[in-house]
Order: sequence, then C-alpha cells, then structure tokens
Amino acid sequence: MAAPVHDPQLPPSGPERAALVQEVFGRVAPSYDKVNHWMSLGQHQKWRTKAAAELQLKPGDRVLDVCCGTGDFLAALEPHVGPSGQVVGIDFAPAMLDGAAAKGHPRLSLGDATRLPIQTASFDAVTIGWGLRNVADLDGALRELARILKPGGRLACLDMTPSRHPLRQISDRVFHWLTPRLGRRVGMEQDYQYLVKSTDAFLDAASLSARLRAAGFDQIRVRTFMFGHIALHIAQKS
Ligand SMILES: C[S@@+](CC[C@H](N)C(=O)[O-])C[C@H]1O[C@@H](n2cnc3c(N)ncnc32)[C@H](O)[C@@H]1O
Repeated sequence: MAAPVHDPQLPPSGPERAALVQEVFGRVAPSYDKVNHWMSLGQHQKWRTKAAAELQLKPGDRVLDVCCGTGDFLAALEPHVGPSGQVVGIDFAPAMLDGAAAKGHPRLSLGDATRLPIQTASFDAVTIGWGLRNVADLDGALRELARILKPGGRLACLDMTPSRHPLRQISDRVFHWLTPRLGRRVGMEQDYQYLVKSTDAFLDAASLSARLRAAGFDQIRVRTFMFGHIALHIAQKS
C-alpha cells in the first residue's frame, strides 16, 4: 500500500483538496464496494433506488451520474430510461471508473465535476451520490450540474449529513468508531479516516438546500435515511 499522502488537516477547497481526494479514491477503489456494504449495513443500493424513483424518469431520458465511482447509481438509473435512453457516468478517479467498467456499464467518462466536459442543457436529469462532500469547489460543481440540465431537468443528490435524529449521538459514535476500523480491515485505516473528516466538515441538509437554490435549482425536497445520517435532495432546475 502506498504511504498515505493526505494531510490530517483536511484542505477545505482548491487544487490540494482535489488532488487528495483523487489519490484517496485511487487507493480505496478495490475495497470501496465491500466497505460501502458494511458501513451502510447493506442499505446503500436501496437509497440509490429510492433516489432514482424520485426523479420520475421516462424511457428515452438522458441521465448524467456525476462522481459515479464504481457505478452503483448507474445500475439504479438504467432500468428507468430503457434501451432508448442513456445513463452516462463521470468521475475523475480512473481506478473507480475501472470498477464501474467491470460491472458492464457502457458509458463512462473521465472528468472533473467542477468542469464537466458536457454540453449545456443536454441532460434530462443529473445524479450525484456521496460526491458533493468531496468536490473542491462545491458551488462551482452545483453550477455545473445546473448548466448541463435541460430547462426543468431534475437533480438527485445523496450524501452524508449531520443527523438531527434523537439517537444521533449513538449512531455518530458508532460511525466515528467503526469507519476507521473497517478501513483497517482492508489495510487503509487512514484513507477511511478521510471519510469521517469529510463527513464532519460537510453541510447540513438545510444549508445544502440553500446552496442548491443559489446555484439555480428550486422545488427542493429532502428525505433522510439511516437515523438522519443520509440526505436525499431532489430539486429542479429553475
Ligand atoms: C464516495 S465515492 C461515491 C461513488 C458513487 N457515486 C457511489 O454512489 O458509490 C465519491 C466519488 O467522487 C469522485 N470525485 C470526487 N471529487 C470529484 C470531482 N471533482 N470530479 C469527479 N469525480 C470526483 C471520487 O473519485 C469518487 O469516485
């Protein structure tokens, strides 16, 4: 395993942050699906399935999944658009895209969420799962998500969020204790510490809604899962 290069002080934004994130996901890619399954108690694909259903897609629609990683959101979206539609995945970590390609997803592209190599107003819907927390320029990425959508196009965003659930103190402790230990099981404790830090530093659901509004979205709805630790934002391009 390569020596961990990340600074214990998580850089909040900018190129240092992007380089750190790219390296972390380059390393965790082979164990990503396994640890995701453990950490979500086997629930993660169910949340993506719910998010895909909320988008009310039609056969023939075009959907872009940004920060697609190993492609599990693509699998949830593909049945909704049928053979006449298109689901495209984009990510900046080649090793994560290799994981998606190994699952047979045909439309994958290497690219940065803050500078999408995608034509303006060309997609009916856009999704991003556990990606926004990682991007170096959150508002820049949100503007890009709005830019590539057709007028009235829809967004589904799934991510960690600070919980307001009455049991949150227990589940917070479990998350802080368990995540590095699961990372240790696959030989990457420090990389999985990144997940804890980036989650602690991320916005609560109301603040993310405000940033979505500022980036050009409206009709924003929020659902939460797993004792309020996972937020699903559904929004429409204004
Ligand atoms: C936690 S994983 C989520 C993967 C996938 N969406 C899922 O649902 O499992 C975060 C992904 O975001 C990607 N990522 C982070 N910042 C990015 C950026 N600026 N541009 C493109 N991909 C990015 C990482 O490479 C990684 O694959």
